Amino acid sequence: EASYETITAEVVESKSVGLLMLNRPQVLNALSEVCMREVVAALKGFDALPEVGAIVISGKGKAFAAGVDIKELKNKTMVDLFVNPVLDQWNQVSRIRKPLIAAVNGYALGGGCELAMMCDIILVGEKAVFGQPEIKIGTIPGMGGTQRLIREVGKSRAMEMILTGERFMDAKEACQRGLASRLIEGTNEELVAEAVAMAKNISGMSRPAVIMAKAAVNAAYESHLEEGVKREQAFFGATFGLEDRSEGMAAFIEKRKPNFQNK
Ligand code: HXC
Repeated sequence: EASYETITAEVVESKSVGLLMLNRPQVLNALSEVCMREVVAALKGFDALPEVGAIVISGKGKAFAAGVDIKELKNKTMVDLFVNPVLDQWNQVSRIRKPLIAAVNGYALGGGCELAMMCDIILVGEKAVFGQPEIKIGTIPGMGGTQRLIREVGKSRAMEMILTGERFMDAKEACQRGLASRLIEGTNEELVAEAVAMAKNISGMSRPAVIMAKAAVNAAYESHLEEGVKREQAFFGATFGLEDRSEGMAAFIEKRKPNFQNK
């Protein structure tokens, strides 16, 4: 297990789940460049581990992440961003093939909100707060926020958040609008435990089927309908090449639990 400066990363639940905690609580888990590199490295590590079937991302302390580290961002020039586009690194999060579950209980602002939205499922605790305050510091979201928030919460609410930098979204509203899938009452630990349980459940499914399902859903998310449906049908057809598919269907008919080989 690699040791990191700004995150913790471990495999839990008999190695079936990767658990990544942002760990700079003193600055509300502000996403520094080191942190970015460590998150990407840890996620790629989990993606490559055959035993890991799904990954949970959360934050230590009272925030998920209050954005990209403004102290580092402050000294960047336009030239820096074009010539050495360090922030591009974050795009790699959306290229992880295994499911990512964000457990958000506290501030998910700016890049923190964008990181949560790069995950496949968001679970929230009662104290979750989402916002895109970049406009208040003279910039705009730069890690996919303008593209993803509108898909999640609609144009008017997304514009309001992005143009005013205010009117943050709480846990209840995030669930109502579909940004988050579920509110888990209780402590941070209970929220993370629920996310880990969900990840473990997903990890028990046929691994190739899970990867195809995520890629097919993302096709709808990333492209237009016709192309997405075509991709879904291609993946659907591909599952018929899996023994897991015949086993899963046979198990249903025989009223027993499936014994998937590829997990
Ligand atoms: C660096 C940060 C930080 C950030 C908080 N801190 N957010 N440091 N970058 N994004 C630090 C504070 O400086 C402070 O450090 C400590 O964390 C605690 O924060 P406080 O402000 O004292 O806490 P509180 O009063 O509770 O207010 C919480 C808050 C506020 C409302 C979340 O911290 C805040 O507005 N943060 C910035 C939110 C933001 O603008 N995010 C977008 C960033 S731009 P000290 O040392 O003073 O104790 C972005 C760009 C994305 O994300 C696109 C990039 C391509």
